[in-house]
Amino acid sequence: MEKYNLICDIVNNDCVEVMDSTEYKFDLTYLDPPFNQNKNYNSHNDKMNPIEYWNWMEEVCKKIYDKTTSGGSIYFMQREKNVKEVFRVLEDTGWTFQNLIIWKKKSSAVPSNNKYGKHYQIIVFATKGRKPRVFNKLRIDPPLLVTEKHKRQNGMYVTDVWDDIRELTSGYFAGEEPIRLPTGERLHNQQSPIQLLLRIILSSSKPGDFIFDPFSGTATTNIVSRQLSRNSICVEKDHLYFQYCVKRLNEFRDVDKIDRFKDNYKYTKNLDDIWGSPTNIKEFTPSQYTLFEKKVNYK
Ligand SMILES: C[S@@+](CC[C@H](N)C(=O)[O-])C[C@H]1O[C@@H](n2cnc3c(N)ncnc32)[C@H](O)[C@@H]1O
Repeated sequence: MEKYNLICDIVNNDCVEVMDSTEYKFDLTYLDPPFNQNKNYNSHNDKMNPIEYWNWMEEVCKKIYDKTTSGGSIYFMQREKNVKEVFRVLEDTGWTFQNLIIWKKKSSAVPSNNKYGKHYQIIVFATKGRKPRVFNKLRIDPPLLVTEKHKRQNGMYVTDVWDDIRELTSGYFAGEEPIRLPTGERLHNQQSPIQLLLRIILSSSKPGDFIFDPFSGTATTNIVSRQLSRNSICVEKDHLYFQYCVKRLNEFRDVDKIDRFKDNYKYTKNLDDIWGSPTNIKEFTPSQYTLFEKKVNYK
């Protein structure tokens, strides 16, 4: 069985600066930037002039494109009202559109008096070149509707509507997964669920590939990548968030383990090959860019 020398890096810096200096090439990027909606991000100003904000997003997307391998993928998360800008930015920077994924929240909708309540976020999946180099057709087996009388034989393919992954951002629904401060408060209100990264990384990469996350937040991408035998480099500008990223990687919590979700994908062809295995890992190699305070040990 092939053995990997796995890289698992978290860098405390500005993502544009890191992209300008790194020699890594990316096979897959998860792009979950601040949405410019005046949220509290510790040090980031989330109330930029909209033109400035979208110019910044364009610069980020162009730099990712230049660093991406042929057929590599990007998943760009945004608010649904920004869909036009996301399409424009991706197209102008060379990306080829593949899917508009609707991530339907399992929690309650954001109400409105004048229009329908908001119940989803968009994730645009695009590739460098006409077709993805890797696309694993995952199968899941969501609960049947009451109107469906016959049990499925072998699940169903994942579509572009993801309604089986719960967000972490709503009050008591958040559970154990969110990183907490000593006071018990959430560290980061935009922490992505493990299950979301699991779906993206499993679908669009294979073991040994290189995953990039320019807006790391809480290192969710590192955490999932290394358990799937993928290399990863994540960048977080804020020092407090960065320190918690390092802690999360070093202290590997039970709630961050992905194996409990493997059964959800049991009908997927070649699941074991796609999933990768920690036994394939020779060692972690902190790269020349690493700013680790302590070397991360895989558990
Ligand atoms: C939406 S959050 C990402 C949350 C992440 N997906 C998670 O699972 O925790 C965006 C993050 O980008 C960081 N950020 C803002 N500007 C940045 C920059 N120029 N370079 C790197 N990180 C930045 C913010 O501090 C924030 O933590």
